[in-house]
Amino acid sequence: MNAVRKLQALLRRHPMALVEAVLHRIPFRPIRAEYFERFELRGAFPPLATALEVRLADTRDVEPLVRCRGKSSNFESRFAAGEHCVVAIVDGSIAGYEWFSEKERHVEERFGYAFPIQDDALYAYDAYTSEAFRGRGVWRQVIAGAAGLLKARGRTRLLSHVDFGNDTSMTAHVKVGFRPVGRFVFLDVLGWKTLRQLSGVREGHADDRSARAPRPG
Ligand SMILES: CC(C)(COP(=O)(O)OP(=O)(O)OC[C@H]1O[C@@H](n2cnc3c(N)ncnc32)[C@H](O)[C@@H]1OP(=O)(O)O)[C@@H](O)C(=O)NCCC(=O)NCCS
Repeated sequence: MNAVRKLQALLRRHPMALVEAVLHRIPFRPIRAEYFERFELRGAFPPLATALEVRLADTRDVEPLVRCRGKSSNFESRFAAGEHCVVAIVDGSIAGYEWFSEKERHVEERFGYAFPIQDDALYAYDAYTSEAFRGRGVWRQVIAGAAGLLKARGRTRLLSHVDFGNDTSMTAHVKVGFRPVGRFVFLDVLGWKTLRQLSGVREGHADDRSARAPRPG
């Protein structure tokens, strides 16, 4: 019943989200459809709160990042690739983090599609707040801290992708000041991959060539 209500809610929001959810249930996933919204934040960043320490992470933070996430990830190779990570500290431990890319083309880690990032933007990805600290303003402070990174890198805006179905992240992005600027769908049909922009502001282009870019590492 719960699942039916979830599907109805998805259908109301957008039929593509329903297609994605149905395809997700097919064993071995022969067809994947990932439907996501691009968000942008420029200008009005949240103010830094003095109560929470926010700073840039480095390779010494790999273990604390793993502890925050509760599982290992490719944090080391991200640092090695020149990616940036902003962390929020609570009681001496990392409570939340997000990664930022300034590459000309960023390859999405889960699905392997690539897309261009204009040279006035940083691409923000893999936002995470430890479950015990959610809803307490940790990620808001990570984004407040990202304003400093943006300035240091000579950029003026953040871009971020949020999957339809991730309602918490959608709401959090809007509440922190991001605005939706485009909708995309990524299709993987038996290994044939394509990324398409369905609506919104076009930045460079998302095409078959970019979708076939190799996975990192
Ligand atoms: C999305 C995520 C990073 C948010 O982190 P967080 O530290 O809990 O967020 P914050 O407490 O800073 O909240 C930021 C804003 O979002 C709102 N918000 C956060 N969680 C919410 C929820 N479950 N429902 C509604 N609003 C929510 C907060 O109210 C806040 O707005 P406000 O300051 O105007 O009240 C966290 O939920 C998470 O790690 N989720 C799992 C991983 C994930 O989905 N990452 C995003 C990938 S795009």
